[in-house]
Amino acid sequence: MPNAKLILNDKEYEFPVFAGSENEVAIDISKLRAQTGAIAYDPGYGNVGACSSSITYIDGDAGILRYRGYPIEQLATQATFVEVCYLLIYGHLPTADELEKFNARLNKHSLVHEDMKKLFEGYPPSAHPMAIMSAMVISLSAYHPDLLDPEIIDTNIMRLLAKFKTLAAFTYKKSVGQPYVYPRSDLSYTADFLHMMFSVPTHDYDIPDVVVKALDLLLILHADHEQNCSTSTVRMVGSSQANVFASVAAGVNALWGPLHGGANQEVIMMLEDIHKDGGDVQKYVNMAKDKNSHFRLFGFGHRVYKNFDPRAKILGKAADDVLNALHVTDPLLDIARGLADAALSDPYFIERKLYPNVDFYSGIIYRALGIPTSMFTVMFGLGRLPGWISQWKEMHNDPQTRINRPRQIYTGETARDYVPVDQR
Ligand code: CMC
Repeated sequence: MPNAKLILNDKEYEFPVFAGSENEVAIDISKLRAQTGAIAYDPGYGNVGACSSSITYIDGDAGILRYRGYPIEQLATQATFVEVCYLLIYGHLPTADELEKFNARLNKHSLVHEDMKKLFEGYPPSAHPMAIMSAMVISLSAYHPDLLDPEIIDTNIMRLLAKFKTLAAFTYKKSVGQPYVYPRSDLSYTADFLHMMFSVPTHDYDIPDVVVKALDLLLILHADHEQNCSTSTVRMVGSSQANVFASVAAGVNALWGPLHGGANQEVIMMLEDIHKDGGDVQKYVNMAKDKNSHFRLFGFGHRVYKNFDPRAKILGKAADDVLNALHVTDPLLDIARGLADAALSDPYFIERKLYPNVDFYSGIIYRALGIPTSMFTVMFGLGRLPGWISQWKEMHNDPQTRINRPRQIYTGETARDYVPVDQR
């Protein structure tokens, strides 16, 4: 491919151009500052490729999402979450033997150190589960010290994957004041999570197949999404050679924000508000269009998807299927559909290419499974975990990785002299 040319102050510079395996084109400006003295300015990184990656491909205009080349639609209907974890982390679908060994390793590592229960005791029951999750993930590095030996790294990756679900369920138990329920090695990853969430000492939760399948679907759809905010955070922190627990704990924090993973909680709160307010969806569409209202339609819009979000398409249909199978009627589903119809036919949303995203319907399904709203973002984290891990691993093993250190354009005061306090 011919070089890209830049003219700055009448001088011409050339920069190499290269393409990815799906022909997405990049201009390599890694020498831009060294050659020209200028930096590339792109707040929010809308046009900056911070790495090359072989994990996930998205075409936002065509609504395509693939993990390691496999279309999300196929994985969603045919794979289990554990298979997808293996695929993302190791790069290929596991053979039957590999899957059995992987499951055995997940079972082996699913208990958390007993002392960690004392950490939970220190939190008030009202604590947001994401605050506790972040602290628990970084705390794992205190119990499983970081060593640069690749085998230990792989074991720590398994520990993180296995223990995250136990910690997530403990976080819920803490919030409702019930005793913690230990993992069971005879259950699948997803069924075990549900067991730890909903079993109590007096009664084992009878895990319906439809609930396991619905949860598997939700987790698969969240499993990776290339360089989103939390994943970029994981890579950013990991680029300083911080361990996988520290890097993923940072990802948990980034996910919590309402513009990212926290949106699934916001969607349900918004739908509840609309419901209480009489169900007038148009009023809320109008509010979202009014720049003075500071209100956004949560679960709508995406930095990358400008046609449709394939995950939302799958979940929109699954919401009907799961609620029907569980004989659940949720008025919020009707409100969500009405809101989506009103927004999708409105010129404001059409012009800006704003469509329902993955968070729009996920909360309605989580509610039907009995998962409380405060846990929704933790559920997103449980799903995104293999993505964070695989991206951290890829970054860690990439010889091109340098510590992430963006530049800035300084707009503050120019040099001035200090004035003693009595003369100000
Ligand atoms: N409601 C109303 N207006 C919106 C919305 C929305 N949900 N999203 C974007 N806009 C408008 C925005 O005001 C702007 O208008 P204008 O051009 O007049 O200034 C235009 O659309 C472009 O928006 P942007 O904020 O510049 O787009 P972005 O790429 O920076 O932000 C987003 C993407 C997802 C943060 C944003 O669409 C948003 O805030 N959505 C609601 C929160 C949400 O659902 N987040 C979950 C995203 S999917 C899960 C994940 O991967 O995290």
